[in-house]
Amino acid sequence: MRVGALAFIGVLGTALAFSQVPRSYKADVEPIFVKECGDCHSSDRPKKGLDLSADKGYANLVGKKSQEVPELLLVAPGDPENSYLWHKLQHTAKEGKGMPRGIFSSRKLAEQDLQVIREWIEQGAKP
Ligand code: HEC
Repeated sequence: MRVGALAFIGVLGTALAFSQVPRSYKADVEPIFVKECGDCHSSDRPKKGLDLSADKGYANLVGKKSQEVPELLLVAPGDPENSYLWHKLQHTAKEGKGMPRGIFSSRKLAEQDLQVIREWIEQGAKP
């Protein structure tokens, strides 16, 4: 009995250690986009009509069709591979440049930021 209970606690502890941190748009993703994308995707004439400024980005991304490839949603909750945003960030999108664009070329976000965004989409793209 005692051994069983200890084994159970051990399994639970291991599961917790390997589970992901819960990600939310407001706490985890918005700060990245405001900093990295704000030059081109904020309120005053945003590129491709995509406003990612604070308190606007979530509604403009989750469940919204891409302008460039309307067969895809920008963010399909739970499904990064079918989220056009994810392809723009991976530089695998069919149209336009990879994001974030620069004056001469595109670059990729830091691996840590990409990981946070992927986890957020996988976990259902919560606000
Ligand atoms: C230097 C300006 C610039 C920056 C910085 C920039 N973008 Fe863009 N973005 C554009 C332009 C211009 C387009 C349209 C042409 C293209 O896709 O290359 C675009 C298009 C997009 C699209 C496609 C929208 C659609 O409806 O199909 C997405 C998604 C996007 N950007 C996300 C981002 C994200 C996320 C960031 C920050 C990580 C970012 N962009 C940074 C200029 C920029």
